This record gives sequence, structure tokens and C-alpha cells, in this order.
Amino acid sequence: MTKTVAVIGATGLQGSSVLKTLHATPGYRVRGVTRRPGGEAAQALAAQCPDAEWVQGDLNDAGSLAAAFRGADVVFGVTDFFQPDVLARVAAGDQDAEFAQGRNIVDAAIAARVALVVWSGLPSAARLSGGKYPGVLHFEGKHRVAEYLRSKSGQIDGLVVHVGFYMENYTRFARLSPETGDGRTVEFAFPLRPDTRLPLTDTASDVGPVVRHMLAHPDQFRGAPAVVVSGGDRAAREMAAAFTEATGRPARFVQIPYDALGSDELAQMFRFLDEFGYFGHDAPDTSNAVDGYSFTTPLEFWKRRGWTGPVQPPAAS
Ligand SMILES: NC(=O)c1ccc[n+]([C@@H]2O[C@H](COP(=O)([O-])OP(=O)(O)OC[C@H]3O[C@@H](n4cnc5c(N)ncnc54)[C@H](OP(=O)(O)O)[C@@H]3O)[C@@H](O)[C@H]2O)c1
Repeated sequence: MTKTVAVIGATGLQGSSVLKTLHATPGYRVRGVTRRPGGEAAQALAAQCPDAEWVQGDLNDAGSLAAAFRGADVVFGVTDFFQPDVLARVAAGDQDAEFAQGRNIVDAAIAARVALVVWSGLPSAARLSGGKYPGVLHFEGKHRVAEYLRSKSGQIDGLVVHVGFYMENYTRFARLSPETGDGRTVEFAFPLRPDTRLPLTDTASDVGPVVRHMLAHPDQFRGAPAVVVSGGDRAAREMAAAFTEATGRPARFVQIPYDALGSDELAQMFRFLDEFGYFGHDAPDTSNAVDGYSFTTPLEFWKRRGWTGPVQPPAAS
């Protein structure tokens, strides 16, 4: 029987991976949920996934989500803490802003009689650090949504994935080295120790196959700990070495101060990663989440992207 999967964040990194993967898998009909079905991002994906349906839905409006989910068997849910409206609410003192959006997904899925929600959560840094880092709000909110989903197990099935540290972050935090001044050396600048080990993830490639595997074997994952989307822990600096190997261009990892990003939330996260690790000291074996699937390595990531570094600023005339 064909299953209809409504995908939140379908125009984003995680959701588009799920949408594209299931669109290419027999037995699934996919529905992208977006605030702007006529927008550029949705239109570009519609061209790539011609059988996908697009519906309007806003995470701040549970009614719009319930309408968007009607007739769906499964919902893939993700929230984006870093949207300006969420950050503004957090800045105004509402620490539940992201949790409220996730709760809307669960409540709307129940109202629309959806059978299963696959929630993209994160662990609680507060719990894993023994209370030392309570302010990593984009981890806490997602963790609380997972708890909320589990508390509704009498009304809806729930499965949870934990996506690792995006390899895509490295393109976002890349710059041309101000120090070498050669216009060629690429620096990946993070408030992280170069040797800190992170569960790196090629989000665009690897989230979809993991979710597809979970949907094919729900009994295997029901009641189980979150499934980790990552091929395993690697030192933060390894992405720089892989970049050089893939492109031939000099690169290095640069450790910047924890407060360099101007956000206490992110400073606490990077301190937490350095001291405790993404999943705490008892990091799960992340390499066997999907039988027979090879997670993308850093070298494959750079080769697949074909990205050769930040654009060089035009020479001053
Ligand atoms: N960076 C990392 O290493 C990392 C690791 C694990 C988890 N995460 C988490 O990943 C989340 C972001 O996911 P992503 O990277 O896949 O997103 P993304 O690429 O930044 O795109 C954001 C997506 O969220 C949707 N969205 C945002 N606000 C919405 C709203 N009010 N209603 C409906 N849809 C909304 C957008 O849809 P439209 O614009 O089309 O409406 C878009 O598809 C963050 O919360 C972050 O904490 C990040």
C-alpha cells in the first residue's frame, strides 16, 4: 500500500533529503510542507521531484499543519531554531519558542489522524553535562519535543532521529585566511578544539536514507533510543584535511574563541561539545544505524559538493 509522507522543512537541508529520497522510492507519495509553496525553493524542488505535492503550513499555526497533514500516514518533523522569528521570541525571554513549534507538529498530527511522526531531535546538553550547560536551547527544545511525542504514544507512534554535526557547517564557517594573505588558503573557523570528535553528517545526502530505513522497519525502532544520522565521530579538523585532498587547495582548521559568534547559546554548545561530546561521553556507535548503507565520508562530501572554497573578494583597484 502506498504511504503518504508529509515532510516539514521540505525546502531545507534535512527535509529535502527526506523528500528526495522517498520521492525516488516506490511505495511512497511525498508532500512538501512549506510556508511558501509558490516560493523559489519549493519550485526548484518541484522541478526535481515532479510527483511531489506541495502544501502551505506554518509551524507557528497548528491549524495550518493539521490541514497540511490531512490524509498523510507519516509526518517527518523538524523545526529551525535559527529562524529570525524564533530567535526574536527567545531574545524576548520565551525559551519555549522552538518547543512550541514541535508540539504543534505532534498535536496537528494527532488531530489529522496521522499514524507516525518521525521527529528530528537532539539530545539534552543540560542532562549530558550534569547541569553545567543548561542554555543550549536548540538542543533542549528538540529534546523536549521528543519527550512530548513519547508521552503521546497512546495516540500516535513516534520515532526519533538525531542528526549529527552538519558537514555543511564547514561551508558556512569557511573564510579565506586573513593570516596567509595568499588568497588561496581556506580556513574553517569554529569555537572548537581541532581534536574534538564530532559525529559528522552529510545532511543533504544521509538523512533521507536513514528515515527511509526506519519507515521500512518501524518495529525495530519503536521505543528504541534515537537513531543517529552519522557515519561516526571524527576530529573536527579532519574536514580541512579532506578539503585539501579533494580540491588540492591549502586549508586549515582554526580555533576561534567561544564567544566569537556573539551568542551565549552557541558558546555553551561549543563548550559542551569540547567537554562532553555531542552525545555525552557515552557516544553511541553511530555507524550501524542502517544496514548496508555507507554514510558519506568527509572526502566524499567535498568531492560530491564540488565546492572549492569561499569566493575570493575582487582585488582592490
Ligand atoms: N547545523 C547543524 O550541525 C545541525 C545539526 C543537527 C540539527 N540541526 C538543526 O537543524 C534545524 C534546521 O534544519 P535544516 O538545516 O534542515 O533547515 P534549513 O535548511 O535551515 O531550512 C529551514 C527549513 O525550516 C522550514 N521552516 C522554518 N520555519 C518554518 C515555519 N515557521 N513554518 C514552516 N516551516 C518552517 C523552512 O521552510 P520554508 O522556508 O519553505 O517555509 C525550511 O525548509 C535547526 O533547528 C538546527 O538546530 C542543525
